[in-house]
Amino acid sequence: MEEELIGIKNAALSFILEAKDLESLEETKLQFLGRSGKLTLAIKEITKVPVEKRKEIGILANEVKNTIEEALKRQEKILSQKKKSALFEKIDVTNPGIKPPLGHLHLVTQAIEEISEIFERIGFERVRYPEVDWDYYAFSALNFPQNHPARDEWETFFVKSYEDPKMGKIVLIPHTSSGQVREMERAKAGQKEISIKMLNIAKCYRRQSDVSHTPMFHQFEGLVIGKDISIVHLKGTLDYFVESYFGKDRKSRIRPYHFQFTEPSFEVDVTCGVCLGKGCKLCKAGWLELGGAGMVHPNVLKAGGIDSKKYTGFAFGWGVERVLMMKQGLEIDDLRILYSNDLRFLKQF
Ligand code: FA5
Repeated sequence: MEEELIGIKNAALSFILEAKDLESLEETKLQFLGRSGKLTLAIKEITKVPVEKRKEIGILANEVKNTIEEALKRQEKILSQKKKSALFEKIDVTNPGIKPPLGHLHLVTQAIEEISEIFERIGFERVRYPEVDWDYYAFSALNFPQNHPARDEWETFFVKSYEDPKMGKIVLIPHTSSGQVREMERAKAGQKEISIKMLNIAKCYRRQSDVSHTPMFHQFEGLVIGKDISIVHLKGTLDYFVESYFGKDRKSRIRPYHFQFTEPSFEVDVTCGVCLGKGCKLCKAGWLELGGAGMVHPNVLKAGGIDSKKYTGFAFGWGVERVLMMKQGLEIDDLRILYSNDLRFLKQF
């Protein structure tokens, strides 16, 4: 038995040393240590050895097993190293590398940057106000009556929390107009004369989701307050924006409308980018609707602590996603694609 074990050990060691690759080493391992490997079978035979010699043979068998296992490990290390260096020898380091894919800004972010630049050029200051705000700033201070439908749970997201007796509930802002009275309060603090030229761009939230509405969208809001500010300034600003953003061949117009917080109020239209105002399948009568505008209501000036006899102002608020689609002439038949993280769509811009 002793001789057999020594023979197995010597044979295994010479096979191990001769193994040229990891595959033949694995074969050798199976041949000696596998379920019907030579050493495994020999160990099973130990039960037949006379009791007085069994312990000694058992110890020897264990030593043989350990020696074989260690030799296998050593050889495996050597062969793996060889495999790796063979691989490196094949790599041509002078080959050009594989470029990692480069991303770019989301097209809504690109539009926000462009809009901000256009208004900065004529002195508008970009500001940001809370996107989770009091009902007071979103509605009450803007002359909304208590029973206005926009306050309805169906339109506005209300945050379930503390309700302030004066400020009311807390809402996810449904429009950027919620920054108007906050801006008036800021401009008034410690100033004798009021001069506001605000551009407020923020996320807005409404309980709407269909092909032309998303529950979260962006608006940009302009607010100008000073002495003798009139509709002429509003129309001039609209024309400037439309020309700068959409191009010289696009025109704007204002139509009478109603908003609680402006008087008079308007809807602003832009000539269609496809037919340039002649009328086509997309726009029908040559015009596409851009958003709301108007002269700041005296009650809103009052809420902001501004004397409506001394000061006047105008405001406008449009959807970023909407102007973006109108500019690109994008035939997006579902606005929600902007937020679906579909790279096939986003990579095109
Ligand atoms: C307003 O929100 C007024 N605050 C605008 C305003 C400001 C009027 C200042 C006068 C003075 P309106 O609800 O129409 O108005 O929304 C303005 C624009 O926001 C819409 O024309 C549209 O482009 C965009 N918009 C509104 N809801 C959504 C929505 N769910 N998804 C995407 N865009 C939206």
